[in-house]
Amino acid sequence: MNIILLGPPGAGKGTQAQRLVAERGMVQLSTGDMLRSAVAKETPVGLKAKAVMEAGELVSDAIVSALIGEHLDGSDGKGAIFDGFPRTKHQAEALEILLAERGRKLDHVVELEVNEEALVDRITGRFSCASCGTGYHDTFKQPKVEGTCDVCGAHEFKRRPDDNEQTVRTRMAEYRAKTAPILPYYEDKGLVRRVDGMASVDAVAAQIDSILDG
Ligand code: AP5
Ligand code: ZN
Repeated sequence: MNIILLGPPGAGKGTQAQRLVAERGMVQLSTGDMLRSAVAKETPVGLKAKAVMEAGELVSDAIVSALIGEHLDGSDGKGAIFDGFPRTKHQAEALEILLAERGRKLDHVVELEVNEEALVDRITGRFSCASCGTGYHDTFKQPKVEGTCDVCGAHEFKRRPDDNEQTVRTRMAEYRAKTAPILPYYEDKGLVRRVDGMASVDAVAAQIDSILDG
């Protein structure tokens, strides 16, 4: 099973992808995580991407499509969750080719429908474990024991440099201008499944489960 989680910044793509990894053994392919790792390691890709990401704009199609190509084989047989990719029509076409070359195909495009204004609070309150990457939120998802990661027990947390309100607004404008227009491409293929992304994390998870199991 190969699925895309599609939705604007803060829609809950990463949160739901992490859960599907834990519960179903699927593989999360997040271009945002791949790019942040490249930035941290100061690779040639990271050096190019850093300023673009901090401005909230999209990194080039060639870079992100190549990153997905490098990581795709690791999900063979387990199923892939594409999180934050594709983000343009060009990336959607590149993904189709990458999958077809491997005898694989997309099963569902899950669109998380959300109210953008509420997402600003979600994003500016977000933090994650510096050790294992598990995501948390100041209001919606605190660690069970204050200051301790639920998953790995580490005590250090971090926030993303692009999680300030101004950059979030640019990221949302990029989503509306370049990413939302790929929905008709997938609608024509009959792949789009809509879920209410404003429901609780567990309720969104239940909607996604019924799509995957249905
Ligand atoms: P990326 O890392 O993909 O960021 P994004 O799309 O902006 O999405 P986010 O990670 O902000 O949100 P999310 O939907 O995963 O929400 P989350 O689950 O964390 O991209 C970053 C940058 O990299 C881009 O701006 C671009 O520059 C570049 N890039 C990446 N991919 C690219 C590509 N393909 N092409 C070009 N450039 C690319 O949830 C948010 C918060 O809300 C969390 O704290 C969570 O706990 C909470 N929450 C989640 N669900 C709920 C719920 N149901 N109720 C209440 N709270 C919730
Ligand atoms: Zn952790």
